[in-house]
Amino acid sequence: MEPTPKINLEQHDILPLLAPQGRTLDWLNTDDGNPYSLPNTARRSYLEAARIVPLRYRAATAQHPGIRRWVNDLVQEAFAAKEKRPAPAAVVRSGPSLLLLGSVGVGKTYQCYGALREMAVTGVVAQWTVVTAADLYARLQPRFGVDSETEFERHAKAPVLFIDDLGAGGKFSEHTENVNFRLINYRYDHQLPTLITSNLLPKELGARMGDRVASRLVEMCDRITMTGPDKRRGMAA
Ligand SMILES: Nc1ncnc2c1ncn2[C@@H]1O[C@H](COP(=O)(O)OP(=O)(O)OP(=O)(O)O)[C@@H](O)[C@H]1O
Ligand SMILES: [Mg+2]
Repeated sequence: MEPTPKINLEQHDILPLLAPQGRTLDWLNTDDGNPYSLPNTARRSYLEAARIVPLRYRAATAQHPGIRRWVNDLVQEAFAAKEKRPAPAAVVRSGPSLLLLGSVGVGKTYQCYGALREMAVTGVVAQWTVVTAADLYARLQPRFGVDSETEFERHAKAPVLFIDDLGAGGKFSEHTENVNFRLINYRYDHQLPTLITSNLLPKELGARMGDRVASRLVEMCDRITMTGPDKRRGMAA
């Protein structure tokens, strides 16, 4: 395995992620020659996270206690599984999901990218796939020359999946309803950690997503409702 490059502090807003864990940039940049050492794994995971996180959320941190707990639970579970096996690295493979509800602009997406970044620097390996629900439906539209089943599986089987804005948009087509059910059902059956945001109210879940999807979401997810003003309006000049 190629040595992982050191991280340049100037280009990354990383200290707020390390400080709560009692770690420093020197720790993160320690290379003891073992590719699976905690800092080497954390550095690799962090650089992968930096590649995935969009510019707007590049400095996000997860401040919500419920989200921090979810990250922590998955990380602890991964380290416990590593000891049991034993395996060279702690890998997030299964665990609880999280449904983050709240109105426009309260900071749901920000918290989720914060969770992704924070999980990275713990030193676990978590292979995230990130998608908005609307983009997913568009990608899975059956069309000539595109193997939408492979694309579906890439999301359904992702070790950790972040689905942003589930339930948004206009009336669902039969195809969209089918994607919703198959995706959630797969992740439910296999207990794959899934982070979901939505503008829906809890009482609207069943009517919008269908009872079978809503029932699975209720069982597989811890549910958090964020409240507050639309932060975008607060930031507008
Ligand atoms: N804790 C925070 N600290 C600093 N900026 C924040 C924080 N939370 C959110 N923001 C900023 O506020 C804006 C809105 O946040 P975000 O996009 O996460 O909202 P949302 O709840 O996902 O909205 P929507 O439902 O429309 O998708 C973004 O510019 C985001 O970077
Ligand atoms: Mg959002």
